[in-house]
Amino acid sequence: MSEIKRVGVIGSGQMGGGIAQVAAVSGFETVVMDTSADQVALCEKTHDKLLARAVEKGKMSEDDAKAAKGRLTYVTDIKSLADSDIVVEAVVENAEVKKSIFKQLAGMLTGDQILASNTSSISITEIAAATDCPERVIGMHFFYPVPVMKLVEVINGLATDANVTERVIKLAGDMGKTAVPANDRAGFVSNRVLMPMINEAFYAWMEGVAEPEHLDQIMKLGCNHPMGPLELADFIGLDTCAHIMNVLADGLHSERYRPCPKLEQLVVAGRFGRKSGHGVFKY
Ligand code: CAA
Repeated sequence: MSEIKRVGVIGSGQMGGGIAQVAAVSGFETVVMDTSADQVALCEKTHDKLLARAVEKGKMSEDDAKAAKGRLTYVTDIKSLADSDIVVEAVVENAEVKKSIFKQLAGMLTGDQILASNTSSISITEIAAATDCPERVIGMHFFYPVPVMKLVEVINGLATDANVTERVIKLAGDMGKTAVPANDRAGFVSNRVLMPMINEAFYAWMEGVAEPEHLDQIMKLGCNHPMGPLELADFIGLDTCAHIMNVLADGLHSERYRPCPKLEQLVVAGRFGRKSGHGVFKY
């Protein structure tokens, strides 16, 4: 069982970029891959900004920030991940796209390397079935913003080898995170519980129970949540929330999980939340 030294990350958006940053800061040689050169350049810029901010705040020495940056490589060709000990995929939540990536990875990494997905709701067993090595496929679900959030939800597929789980739990710990297991059911635990709460907040708003600001204030002050559910939905992305609700409805065979019409309406209007400048709230 080889020690994990090199981490590959596929996808350089909010999640992939965050995972790569934390891996590099934790001492791992890290390669971030994205098919979009613009996206990968933006990811590098964000790393520079966040590392500089950590130095400014006295959370990291300038030397440590430089060393972390030196461990990061930005690429657009998946073949550059060939010598990774683990690849963490963090691309769009689309089962077909993920399966195609895992098939490619399995053909490229034929030793005991680990193929992990940061999926927040898609079945690990289904992704693993697209490969000829389902025992090396696992879910490693990080939370946004990755540098801040302490949890990694670890999901075994039907065939995941116990050694692979053990190595992933150790890696999460080495990255300063706490790994907690969940079974391979739609939404795992985090989104099974979080998303229906967010969806219910949209219903409460739609039915006029409270204005969005008051609804959020009630949940923040009354339940000690750092963000109200509607602000959190904007933070995650309303399109992502609606998508996850549909994954829950399909995977758990229950229409009660379908996205609230109010949530769907904002998504079709192009109000995706913070990332588009307007969701429930304006930014
Ligand atoms: N990247 C890196 N660091 C960030 C950041 C980002 N995008 N956003 C905030 N931070 C850091 C800040 O730099 C700051 O760090 P220091 O304490 O070291 O100075 C720290 O987080 C706190 O930030 P702020 O003081 O600016 O703001 P805050 O106190 O309001 O906290 C928050 C911001 C941490 C995001 C907090 O509001 C929070 O915890 N919100 C809930 C987040 C949450 O629930 N995330 C999970 C989403 S669900 C998910 O990810 C799973 C899924 O599958 C959909």
